[in-house]
Amino acid sequence: MCGIVGYLGEKEAFPLLIKGLKRLEYRGYDSAGIAVLGDDGKLQHHRRKGKVDDLLAHMEGRVPSGSLGIGHTRWATHGPPNDVNAHPHLSGDGQLALIHNGIIENYHALKETLVARGHTFYSDTDTEVLVHLIEEILKSSEDLDLFEATRVALNEVVGAYAIAVVDVARPGELILARKSSPLVIGIGDGEFFVASDATPIIEYTKNVVYLEDEEVAKVSLSSGLKIRTIKNHRVTPVITELEMAMESIEKGGYEHFMLKEIHEQPRSIADCLRGRLRLGHGAIRMAGIDDHQQMWTDAQRLIIVACGTSWHAGLIAEYMFEDFARIPVEVEYASEFRYRNPVIGEGDILIAISQSGETADTLAAIRMAKEKGAHVFGICNVVGSSISRESHSGAYTHAGPEIGVASTKAFTAQLAVLALCAIRVGRLRGALDEQRFNRLMVDLSGIPEKVEALMQLEPEIEKIAEEFKNAPNALFLGRGYNFPVALEGALKLKEISYIHAEGYPAAEMKHGPIALIDENMPVFIVATKDAHYDKVVSNIQEVKARGGKVIAIVTAGDSEVKSMADKTIEVHRADDAFVPLLSTIPFQLLSYHIAVKLERNVDQPRNLAKSVTVE
Ligand code: AGP
Ligand code: GLU
Repeated sequence: MCGIVGYLGEKEAFPLLIKGLKRLEYRGYDSAGIAVLGDDGKLQHHRRKGKVDDLLAHMEGRVPSGSLGIGHTRWATHGPPNDVNAHPHLSGDGQLALIHNGIIENYHALKETLVARGHTFYSDTDTEVLVHLIEEILKSSEDLDLFEATRVALNEVVGAYAIAVVDVARPGELILARKSSPLVIGIGDGEFFVASDATPIIEYTKNVVYLEDEEVAKVSLSSGLKIRTIKNHRVTPVITELEMAMESIEKGGYEHFMLKEIHEQPRSIADCLRGRLRLGHGAIRMAGIDDHQQMWTDAQRLIIVACGTSWHAGLIAEYMFEDFARIPVEVEYASEFRYRNPVIGEGDILIAISQSGETADTLAAIRMAKEKGAHVFGICNVVGSSISRESHSGAYTHAGPEIGVASTKAFTAQLAVLALCAIRVGRLRGALDEQRFNRLMVDLSGIPEKVEALMQLEPEIEKIAEEFKNAPNALFLGRGYNFPVALEGALKLKEISYIHAEGYPAAEMKHGPIALIDENMPVFIVATKDAHYDKVVSNIQEVKARGGKVIAIVTAGDSEVKSMADKTIEVHRADDAFVPLLSTIPFQLLSYHIAVKLERNVDQPRNLAKSVTVE
């Protein structure tokens, strides 16, 4: 969840580290720290609770000098976010500095052994145990260098890690390792960059090496990059070229990344459809499906696993696959799925949906499904991410980097990819006749333009935000394809505004939540003209009868709901299956504007992190 950066070369490390940390701050931001090894052989070490700017303020212009350094933004797992628990952590003799993303699960047992050997600890973190363990191994055998000592230490570790280690005695090298937490090495001209993802690296080099699980790397000014597994097998580094553009990781004139990303959706959805939806040829091309046609035709069942917003996309996909492909679908929270004893095996296809491609629970779920013989189809946004690499086949969402912690454009891109998959599989299995197939293709191709039109409604939505910004609670309702949209609307509002919000299928309201409704309760309802329209109209009546305030998303031209609701927001007509791509946008804008009006940190809401790499 945290952000790791490192630099080894000839330039001053500190400015590079700070810039990198700011780029990675979206991954975790409860504390930050750096360690830079000076030319005088002294380690300059600064840590602070809070953001990278708090660290800078604390350092008050004491700019460390040196061309080897590491930096970290923390998302606390062990011990509260404070100065002492912030990384980098130092060995007992102060010779080693280490940053870590992940959890050392057996830290307690390791710590007891180390304490018995005379080590003392200053922090509550699991991380500090690891740096002491490396120190202990380094001291106990003169034959081992830092690379070897780290490799040996990691054989004793249970858990997840991405680490970078600096040794005061070795100014020309940096040791790295990963297991279940991502780490990318950028290869420059006589210099190396290290980061949790490619965003801090792209500015300097496009050539990167993604470390794999249980690999340890040494980058050295004299001998370059060397990789071994923790079991000591040699690995030949594979250099990949980054395709990311610089502009995609900058705000481009918007006040927040989230707003930029909301506005990018007409383009990101179009990018996702491009080359796949081939209207002229009357065909859909999805390489991940086309290459395994028989498997998709024969599949008995689909199991979709994901977390958070991606899980909401999975729920919508369930409706699509059942509707278009007539195939049974189960949608599971990855965290629940992996700890059950699920019935899954050959003949099942597991679809894993993850923007980051690094979510620990989703990754663990796909590993379990693979062991049991299922085929894993990954839907990820981050190219080269762990889930994309560990899936048998899959599809990228091509939404471009999503920096705002609240997912927006990645969600709609997931919906677009899932729609393509469901239509493609529906055709393959003979469940969609040509007429409906063609109609769906035309309809889907028109979505980016309809999303663009929705952006014009922003001033109107901002007014609604002003009116309801002080509500302590909110209810989001929808039916059918729009039920997951209600869940997503509630999640978006709570995560960035901290207003308590619940999403419900509209018909379930009478089984409990209706007790909450009074004149202070805004009820956001998706009431577009679809198969459930009349039923939703009745649900609106039930809310109004109890004095609730109704803000309804309706189909353009609707008059019936308009006459009942307190506010309405119009979206264009589309096939029921694609309405979520439209109806979710007003909820994104609404949450955004409420959060801004409440002066929340929209891009980095409290307690959250973009990439949840711990269980
Ligand atoms: C979305 O707004 C959230 N911050 C969160 O629920 C997110 O969708 C979830 O953590 C899953 O992430 P992933 O798509 O990267 O796997
Ligand atoms: N487990 C470590 C800690 O609590 C690292 C957390 C992180 O990934 O930021 O400090």
